[in-house]
Amino acid sequence: MRRSIAAGNWKMNGLRENFNDILLIDAASENVNCDVILCVPDTLIREMSEKTKNIFSGGQNCHIEASGAFTGDISAEMIKDAGASHVIVGHSERRVNYNENNNLIKSKAQTALNEGLKAIICIGETLKERDTGITLDIIKKQLLDSLPQEITGETIIIAYEPVWAIGTGLTPTIEQITEVHDFIRAELENNYGKKIGHSVNILYGGSMNAKNAHEISAIENVDGGLVGGASLKAESFIPIINALNLN
Ligand code: PGA
Repeated sequence: MRRSIAAGNWKMNGLRENFNDILLIDAASENVNCDVILCVPDTLIREMSEKTKNIFSGGQNCHIEASGAFTGDISAEMIKDAGASHVIVGHSERRVNYNENNNLIKSKAQTALNEGLKAIICIGETLKERDTGITLDIIKKQLLDSLPQEITGETIIIAYEPVWAIGTGLTPTIEQITEVHDFIRAELENNYGKKIGHSVNILYGGSMNAKNAHEISAIENVDGGLVGGASLKAESFIPIINALNLN
């Protein structure tokens, strides 16, 4: 049985003065029937991991090397050392803004796994790709080319995030989400075996909010959400946690 996940992605948002939101989210996550993960800026990971009890701490990116002459980068080992248990890799903002390709993302995910971090691997089509009818081809390529050779439900989380739904207020229809999540599940089972494929959490991400979280997360192969804007404030993220808690 997969346990539902409510994951927040703060992106480049959040100062120490916003810490109270983290504490409120932590308090609301006690006794919920889902895992809550907050992927905050690296500057907040240490304090968050020390001061919270009920949520997992995550980073948003990592380098493929453990250390070295890579000015401005951060390694999986450093994120782990700061207290994180999870790291996002391959978010579309990094794929687009930093030209990160599937190969690099695969290496990042592998490095995260080697450090004992759980990797949240993001995939998703652009609007142009959807409109030309190649969504499933894109998803298949991103999925299979970004995943490490050996995965388990304990080490990997997939986040399906249509690029056109991120930060736009637009969401795919329930049928569209169902189609892609069923497809990802089938690909995981075909390529990694039924047992492992069945055990991996597949999150939906892209304009998830308190209003749509329940309906989206009720879809069979949606095992939670990766939430950007609505995770920044306790008042908007807690209702999403509660909605996922019901499924
Ligand atoms: P959004 O972002 O919820 O603000 O659309 C989701 C994400 O980018 O992970």
